[in-house]
This record gives sequence, structure tokens and C-alpha cells, in this order.
Amino acid sequence: MKKVLITGGAGFIGLHLANNLANDNYEVTILDNFARGSFDEEFKKLVEKPNVKFIQGDIIKTETFDKLDLDYDYVYHLAAINGTENFYNIPDKVLKVGIIGTINVLDWFVKQKKGKILFSSSSEAYSGTLNLLGDKFPIPTHENVPLVVEDPSNVRWSYGASKMLSEVAIYSWAKAYSMKNFVIIRYHNIYGPRMGNEHVIPQFIERIVKNENPFKIYGGQETRTFCYIDDGVKATRMVMESSETNGKTIHIGRSDNEIKILDLSKKLFEIVNVNPEIKIHESPKGSVMRRCPDTTKLQQLGFVPEVSLEEGLRKTFDWYKSKFN
Ligand SMILES: NC(=O)c1ccc[n+]([C@@H]2O[C@H](COP(=O)([O-])OP(=O)(O)OC[C@H]3O[C@@H](n4cnc5c(N)ncnc54)[C@H](O)[C@@H]3O)[C@@H](O)[C@H]2O)c1
Repeated sequence: MKKVLITGGAGFIGLHLANNLANDNYEVTILDNFARGSFDEEFKKLVEKPNVKFIQGDIIKTETFDKLDLDYDYVYHLAAINGTENFYNIPDKVLKVGIIGTINVLDWFVKQKKGKILFSSSSEAYSGTLNLLGDKFPIPTHENVPLVVEDPSNVRWSYGASKMLSEVAIYSWAKAYSMKNFVIIRYHNIYGPRMGNEHVIPQFIERIVKNENPFKIYGGQETRTFCYIDDGVKATRMVMESSETNGKTIHIGRSDNEIKILDLSKKLFEIVNVNPEIKIHESPKGSVMRRCPDTTKLQQLGFVPEVSLEEGLRKTFDWYKSKFN
């Protein structure tokens, strides 16, 4: 039975990943401090499984790592302070967890004499590049475009910059400790049940359930791509479990369902069978017009997404509607 550690395992992606691995008989340990994830019914069910262990701990504190074993086959490092409001309101914590936390994880990981570590970076690392130099690079965006901090005085960058620095940290620890078994993934808009309320999809669902009319859309012409959580988990495991990915950076997301935010709202209206008047407002400042990842590397591993946007939105709506009612 393979042993797996998931930092941030009480969060959105972590819980779905842990369930998936536990169902496949992996021995799963979750490390989380509930900075964001919650001890809800779904988490309770997960940690009741005989092959799942939960350790409550903060990755900023070095003593947390004394509670861990030193023989995990796979370490998924997902813990982070996500959520745009947090980037503005608690940028110091975002940076501490993102940078000090990641360095602590790496310092602990190199004591293991085995195993592979996966670090979850973000499409947010591209925002500066796309804003400043968008016309210089083709879209879908390839993993090798340069990463730019657009404005260090804008604390919004606490998150994107922490992801960039963590990526540098992974390569630095790899060099210093001859660490070969690592991979960096950059997630692009994973969505689904229990994803929190801060993302465009749950926000739209909440406003639809509450009968907002006219329905406000900010911008609407911006495009994004969306990847349902089951496909996101499948891709994450594929990247971790393939030896071909060692030392690489790989997008996790989809390039085949780019959609305008306005059309996303219309898809949700169709699913729920409502038809509110739409009121378009100006886009939020700094909003990137087009985001779409090049997923060639992921596809070369054999990844084929299975859940259509319509099906994924329906499943997400079904989960959220009772919460928002
Ligand atoms: N969801 C996406 O579409 C997306 C996109 C880009 C990047 N990511 C990255 O993927 C990872 C997982 O994302 P998610 O959507 O599941 O986020 P999430 O916020 O739902 O989960 C993160 C988890 O980390 C935990 N955590 C935070 N600080 C901690 C600390 N100091 N010690 C221990 N645990 C701590 C939180 O309590 C939470 O359970 C994150 O690193 C995130 O930045 C996600």
C-alpha cells in the first residue's frame, strides 16, 4: 500500500484527492490547520476511513513536521492561503504560508530518503505576464513563458509572488540536495462541489438561487477555461505517479472549453431554467482578458478530460443550491 501525505488536505482539491486515493487503497495522511478548509460532514466521513489519518498542524511551524513519518511515497503539497480577498486583507499570512511554509515542507521532505513531492502553483503566476506582455506570447499559454510581478506595492501580488518564489525554492532545494523526484503543477480554474464561495461559479450560483434580477456581470467578455474537480484529481495523480514528469512544470486544466464569462452565466441560467435580465458593468481593474493554458504536456501523459462543462456545472449547482437556499 503506497503512503501519501497531502498538505492542505482539508481544502477543496485536497479533500477530493484524498477521497480518490483512499478509495484506491492508498494510506493517506492529511496535514491541515483549517486556515481555510473545514471540519464538515464530508471531511468527517473522509477521516473515518480506516486508511486515512488526520494530523492538525501549521506548516509555518517547524515542530509540526515532528508529527510526520519519513517514508511517504508521494507528498502533495497543496496547503496555501488561496482566495482573492485574502491576498488583499492578509498578504503577510499568504506569504508566510506560501514561502516559509513551503520551505519548511522542503526542509522536512529532504530528510525522507524516498518519495516524490508535487507542488501546486497557480495560473495566477501568469497574471503579470498576460497583463503586460500578453501580445508577445501565444494563447494557449505555454508553461515556459516568463513570470512577472507587475507591481510589488500592490499586495494582490502576495499570492502570485509566493507561488513564483516557491517554484524557485523547489529548484533550489533540488540543486542543494540532489532532489530529483519533484514536479510543479500550475492549476487553472478547477471547480466543483465544496470549492468555497469566492470563485465566479459559486458566486453566480448563489446569486441565481437568490433570484438576482437584473443579474450583474462585471465585464463578461473575458474568457476562462474550467476543469471539473474529478478531472483535476485524475490529472494531479497522473502527473505525480508518472516518472516522466520528474523535474518538470505542468499545467493542470483544460484548453478545449474556453468560454466568455457572460456565456458561462447563460449556461448556468439554462441549467437552472431561469432567464433574468443581464446588466453588464465594467470589468474589475487589472482583470486579464483571456486565460487559457496549453495542456499539451498533460495530454502527452494520456490525460483526457471526461466531464463536460455542462455536466460539471450541473453537479456543482446541485451541491451548492441547498447551501445557498
Ligand atoms: N482551486 C483552484 O482552481 C486552484 C488554482 C490555482 C492554484 N491552486 C492551488 O492548489 C492548492 C489547493 O487549492 P484549493 O483550491 O484546494 O485551496 P483551499 O484553500 O481549498 O485549500 C488549501 C488548504 O490549505 C490549508 N492551509 C492553509 N494554510 C495552512 C497552514 N499554514 N498549515 C496547514 N494547512 C494550511 C487550508 O486550511 C486549506 O484546507 C493551493 O496551493 C492553491 O493555491 C488551486
